[in-house]
Amino acid sequence: MESTLAELEKSSLEEIAKASTIEELEAIRVRVAGRKGGALAEISKGMGKLVPEERARIGKLLNQAKDSVERAIEAKKKLIDNEALAKRLDSEWLDLTLPASGVKPGSLHPLTQIRYELEDLFRSMGFAVLDGPEVEDEYHNFDALNIPSDHPARDMQDTFWLDGGFLLRTHTSPVQVRGMEHYPPPLRMIAPGRVFRNESVDASHEHTFYQLEGMMIDRDVSVGHLIYFMQTLLAAVFRREVKVRLRPGFFPFVEPGFELDIGCLICNGAGCAVCKHSGWVELLPCGLVNPNVLRMSRIDPDKWSGFAFGLGLTRLVMMRYAINDIRLLQSGDLRFLNQF
Ligand code: PHE
Repeated sequence: MESTLAELEKSSLEEIAKASTIEELEAIRVRVAGRKGGALAEISKGMGKLVPEERARIGKLLNQAKDSVERAIEAKKKLIDNEALAKRLDSEWLDLTLPASGVKPGSLHPLTQIRYELEDLFRSMGFAVLDGPEVEDEYHNFDALNIPSDHPARDMQDTFWLDGGFLLRTHTSPVQVRGMEHYPPPLRMIAPGRVFRNESVDASHEHTFYQLEGMMIDRDVSVGHLIYFMQTLLAAVFRREVKVRLRPGFFPFVEPGFELDIGCLICNGAGCAVCKHSGWVELLPCGLVNPNVLRMSRIDPDKWSGFAFGLGLTRLVMMRYAINDIRLLQSGDLRFLNQF
């Protein structure tokens, strides 16, 4: 009996040492030390036949064996638990002192950024920011701007014509007309927006681009006012004083009409490829509002005069950030957009 007991204890301890899960250990415990049908319980059944001294001795040995098996199981369980915990700590650790990686916020498109800047600037000078439809009628896009249907200026702009005499506006100037129709003078307004021309697309031409139209109507508005506002505008955009010059330019809705050039900001007027070695870059068509245009919108040209300008927003963005391909602006390419 004694040797069976010793055998059982030895083989149990070996099994416990080999076990690698809590379930295995539990199975061993039931099999060896289980109250009903456990191996130790079976052995103790034979004790009745023993003489009292032997019974006491074997009983003691039985208890010791049971103790040692149960302790070994508990110890092994703890070991397995600790290992599992160590593994979890190893794989699931979290350094709460690290800065959060966060969600990358998007950024405003460079065109939108410049547009917002200019809107703020003009608002600060008392200009209203107006909006107009992108699908225009012929009257607002052409006729009301002194461009009658037989006028050669209609050929200057390749137009996307729609059904029923509608078209995609070719410039933001129709918003001038709508402004004059809605608000009596004196009037200061700008109209930023998208315009469309049926052009073949290349590095410097797009069928869709952005302009910012501006107009001021008041008593005795002169070319001097025009130059002042244009210089303020350009200094804000380029964040430094820029030289400007006016050349005659023809637009049916202004008289006199000008092309406003700025001193080239790349070479500071010395001459480079961007300004075609002239020192000047053409940027901004403008002029004094043609009296016919005022009259058509029921404003008396004997009492009121005004200036208007049509800033190429897209071109301005390209100049400010030295972007050499207009197609990048509408590409949606994140490698391009992430830079702003
Ligand atoms: N609307 C003209 C264009 O797109 C630009 C312009 C606006 C010229 C206002 C003069 C005055 O070509």
